[in-house]
Amino acid sequence: MPGPGLHWRDSGSGPATALFLHGYPLSSAIWDAQLAAVPPGWRFLAPDLPGFGASPAPRPGITLDDYADEVVHLLDELGVRGAVVCGLSMGGYIAFRMRALHPDLMAGLVLMHTRAAPDSPDARQARYATAQRAQQEGVAPIAEAMLPRLLSEETRQRRPDVVERLRGITATATVAGVVAAQQAMAARPDSTPLLPRLDVPALVVAGEDDTLAPAAEMRGMAEAIPGAAFVLLPGAAHLSCMEVPAPVNAVLSDFLGALPGR
Ligand code: MLT
Repeated sequence: MPGPGLHWRDSGSGPATALFLHGYPLSSAIWDAQLAAVPPGWRFLAPDLPGFGASPAPRPGITLDDYADEVVHLLDELGVRGAVVCGLSMGGYIAFRMRALHPDLMAGLVLMHTRAAPDSPDARQARYATAQRAQQEGVAPIAEAMLPRLLSEETRQRRPDVVERLRGITATATVAGVVAAQQAMAARPDSTPLLPRLDVPALVVAGEDDTLAPAAEMRGMAEAIPGAAFVLLPGAAHLSCMEVPAPVNAVLSDFLGALPGR
């Protein structure tokens, strides 16, 4: 059962919808530059996941399937019957679950800085430790420790505005949101078997300096999806949508513009 409604941002209008799912511990605000450059004929929707941004807290024990259901519930409420889903990192994990649970809803898939494989036992333990630390110390030290992995060195050196915006975004993450997301990501299923069966147009976007979703692994993921395009962005780590928004917008616009019926 979906919880209380998610907060979302909305930009553009048109018959086609693209849904943008943010990563952890972030919010829909990572997509500001994309929502400011919506191609004609498109509506871009970007929800805040439960416990992030302005959305209500998640229910305890929420799984990635529940996150997917919450997002689908929002689309239902908005009368959206089909969408291109663009998921970044945790948003990509949720996009895989949307595809598995609601296969008819997806008109295309953009996977940014994400992984299909599940966590190793060590990575899972690290997530439980992070969840515990969040309960003891709050979100700020966790977000600060993540920052060097979210942004490339180039972004950190040359774009203090992006660093500060990112700090502002992670400041809206709640302890409940972080704990639930870590537990859900730790328990996520292997989405690798889905890849060869993906029969929607797909685009995979990687950052040259991304250590959280390494480019080589993302290239392998693209190769496993029939007909998928792969784009490697220089100057970006894990958050290309904020670090190099102009190339990201161009890549998105090309992909969306080439979809059947567009
Ligand atoms: C994210 O950006 O959503 C996280 O890096 C995902 C993860 O921790 O696996």
